[in-house]
Amino acid sequence: MAENEIFEKQIISDFSNFDDEAERARFLAERKRQAQEDFKKPFDPSALLEVRHLRKAFPIKKSLTGKVLQELVAVDDVSFKLNAGETIGIVGESGCGKTTMGRTILKLHESNGGQIIFNGEDITDYKTKQMREIRKKMQIIFQDPYSSLPPRSTVGGILSEPVLVHNIVPKNEIRDYVLELMDKCGLRDYYYERYPHEFSGGQRQRICIARALSVNPQLVVCDEPVSALDVSIQAQIINLLKELQDSMNLAYLFISHDLSVVKFISDKIGVMYLGSMVEFGSKNDIFSNPLHPYTKALFSAIPNPNPDIKMKRIELMGDIPSPANPPKGCRFHTRCPYAKEICKHITPEYKEYEKGHFAACHLLEE
Ligand SMILES: Nc1ncnc2c1ncn2[C@@H]1O[C@H](COP(=O)(O)OP(=O)(O)OP(=O)(O)O)[C@@H](O)[C@H]1O
Ligand code: SF4
Ligand SMILES: [Mg+2]
Repeated sequence: MAENEIFEKQIISDFSNFDDEAERARFLAERKRQAQEDFKKPFDPSALLEVRHLRKAFPIKKSLTGKVLQELVAVDDVSFKLNAGETIGIVGESGCGKTTMGRTILKLHESNGGQIIFNGEDITDYKTKQMREIRKKMQIIFQDPYSSLPPRSTVGGILSEPVLVHNIVPKNEIRDYVLELMDKCGLRDYYYERYPHEFSGGQRQRICIARALSVNPQLVVCDEPVSALDVSIQAQIINLLKELQDSMNLAYLFISHDLSVVKFISDKIGVMYLGSMVEFGSKNDIFSNPLHPYTKALFSAIPNPNPDIKMKRIELMGDIPSPANPPKGCRFHTRCPYAKEICKHITPEYKEYEKGHFAACHLLEE
């Protein structure tokens, strides 16, 4: 099959009469077949979270009868594994689907395809009741610590509630438990009686972190947890997250625009473009040997602290296309400096090029 595909691509030199629709249908059928095959594979016992061919689409146009006429595929066929105590950084421009992916994994959005395996359990179709036990093992920290705290509860009340709801410790031990947690998160004990509006952004984010950790989670989705904070505070929060990770063996799915933060905190990195994972690998793979032109462009924009190393900045052309109407072939072809004719018609396969290092680009197939 693989040999046939390569042969087909080599003999196509003239795309003037190429049937893009037929190619798209072939690509989708092949992807579906691959997904069905992967769904049958045993779960990886070493992974805390395994995401297989995840898809999330939002209906954006409906008929009068409620039939979906057009959808926006925010997360398209994303697969990866996250181990306990490990951090995967997720990067990509605004609107590429990072938040939607995080929320879909936590089942705050219903997925429209794929498998979510948490702790060896397929939770993809779990409903609210079945999620109750699992919910406390998967938490989220949001970007905006101002809107994510209830204004009329004290810090003590905010942190006690999930402990009570999830029965984490006996009732008479909740106060001590919360005070200990506050101490771990750098919050003084007298904050217990105070209200969120009395705190700075950094302190509020510490409260949000404490709330997420109050139920002893194993996985925390950190969605741009420092983007809304002053630069001087960002490092403190990142260091706190790292310390807590080490002491509580937490796994993070760490979504960020800031590549230097991602470099500091991540073990592995996933690069997303228009809903798809275009490259995934260890931090070293992604920073020292990026394979995909989009990754190269993103990372070429990071200033190098060593003035002797001159990095060539790769400029991306044009705007990000709409995910409601993504380009045919390789979705990145409208902005890729290396795009060839084939890129406009045939979607490159997402393949493992080195151990644990995946990418989707025709250049790599040559
Ligand atoms: N509820 C929704 N209904 C329709 N479209 C949505 C919905 N939520 C997200 N989208 C669309 O899905 C795409 C991905 O959005 P998402 O918020 O996941 O991106 P992001 O990578 O987190 O962006 P940012 O970096 O700006 O936070 C966007 O095009 C967005 O407009
Ligand atoms: S497949 Fe083509 S357009 Fe896409 S990233 Fe590779 S070279 Fe660029
Ligand atoms: Mg987002």
